[in-house]
Amino acid sequence: DGFSAHELFNKGYSYTYDDVIFHPNHIDFATEAVDLTTYLTRNIVLRTPCLSSPMDTVTESSMAAAMAALGGIGFIHYNNLPHEQADLVKKAKSQRVGFVRDPFCLLPTDSIHKIDDLKERQGFLCALVTESGTVGSKLLGIVTNRDLDFVADRYTQVSEVMTPDIVTAPAGCSLEEATQILIDNKVKYLPLVSENDGSVMELLFRDDVKRIKQSPPLGSPSLGPDGKILVGAAIGTRESDKERLRLLVDAGVNAVILDSSQGDSIYQRDMLGYAKRAFPQLDVIAGNVVTANQARNLISAGADALRVGMGSGSICTTQEVCAVGRGQATAVYKVASVAKESGVPIIADGGISNSGHIVKALALGASTVMMGSFLAGTEESPGDYFIQDGKRLKKYRGMGSLEAMAKGSDTRYLGDKSKLKIAQGVSGVVADKGSVLRLIPYTMHAVKQGFQDLGVSSLQAAHNNCKSGVLRLEARTGAAQVEGGVHGLVSYEKKRF
Ligand code: XMP
Repeated sequence: DGFSAHELFNKGYSYTYDDVIFHPNHIDFATEAVDLTTYLTRNIVLRTPCLSSPMDTVTESSMAAAMAALGGIGFIHYNNLPHEQADLVKKAKSQRVGFVRDPFCLLPTDSIHKIDDLKERQGFLCALVTESGTVGSKLLGIVTNRDLDFVADRYTQVSEVMTPDIVTAPAGCSLEEATQILIDNKVKYLPLVSENDGSVMELLFRDDVKRIKQSPPLGSPSLGPDGKILVGAAIGTRESDKERLRLLVDAGVNAVILDSSQGDSIYQRDMLGYAKRAFPQLDVIAGNVVTANQARNLISAGADALRVGMGSGSICTTQEVCAVGRGQATAVYKVASVAKESGVPIIADGGISNSGHIVKALALGASTVMMGSFLAGTEESPGDYFIQDGKRLKKYRGMGSLEAMAKGSDTRYLGDKSKLKIAQGVSGVVADKGSVLRLIPYTMHAVKQGFQDLGVSSLQAAHNNCKSGVLRLEARTGAAQVEGGVHGLVSYEKKRF
């Protein structure tokens, strides 16, 4: 019944995730028994097979820290100056799960007006009042909405309305210890303060604690040999990227992506060779590729992992502009078949918009999935929320969009020297998705249920069963795809958790 992946993907069609559907298999284990431990590269193991994409509306330090906290990894974008990117890597590596490292701080002489401004732009929960108006200086008090409600003169100084006596926890204490202090004292905000000089270092929010406690367990964070969280970054293939790479390595980056929409090039081969010679310990991910031949070329050049996908991303127009690419399900299967033989893990990059797509990508041979739009619009993605037509939204843009290229991301799409900018992506907006600390654990639970339905309790088992033809699948007609989604209702509640 049905087809093996080998049969289905050799019929001359380019399939994407929605085009194909797996058949269920016999279940003889619980969802909790599914282990999604995987390889990011030849050498780096992850407990959660999820990566955040190196895009300037997806991954900076908050996202990278959260992804590592969840057992995945985030790749910091390079649409910035080399030292700015290296600083984002350092900042991410110094963050701790659950704690806010850069809480909003004010001088005692600042006016309430400043908070009103902030409220309009990005929302406001509380501000810490410190001696020099920054983190790392002596904590004087806290201002919350309750302190502000009935103050008529908005030029009143915050020192007049702040609450000076606040419960604090010692800087450096663990999340469990801080949580206990927060619960015992029934406070909403808990600053972590240095016992030496009273300077504030981090902040813990009651809502974050609730969220972490209510979500499925986060699992173990991704830690590197330095005991700090794993952080990745992307670079281009220009001569100047060699200096960028050196700064990233100095900042402690754990894996680097050579970022290109068409990775099978002399530029990537040269950069791969350089990076592996200059930094033999560093794992270098090459791509993007969608064919077996491209994959062989980059594997022979020394790639430690391959990123797969061309034009499958939600904001991509590469297939329309350049007439090249491949349906993502076919691309993942074809590249995985080749890479597996060489022990090189593959990253299914782009086109993920639900947990079912993740199940399909992993079952077809990917070791991890990389996501842009799925993670854009979360609290950890860069940028401020704004309200449009009553909806809370955030910006999300392709790195090949004119807007992003104007800021410098053109190396990915222009090759080396071209001056004419042709967009291969668009910019748009996505809905508020809350925190990734909640989104990813729920998504991973759904993925585990998918694995259970397939009768495979690990990635290795999924890959083996896909290759041997135990996993059966077929293409869905357009009507079958409609039937497989929500249909026939006037409206429905889109919230999943
Ligand atoms: P999703 O579907 O997760 O895709 O939003 C994210 C991936 O899309 C790629 N990317 C682009 N591809 N033009 C493209 O053709 C672009 O402007 C662009 N920006 C990002 C990238 O691989 C990312 O991980």
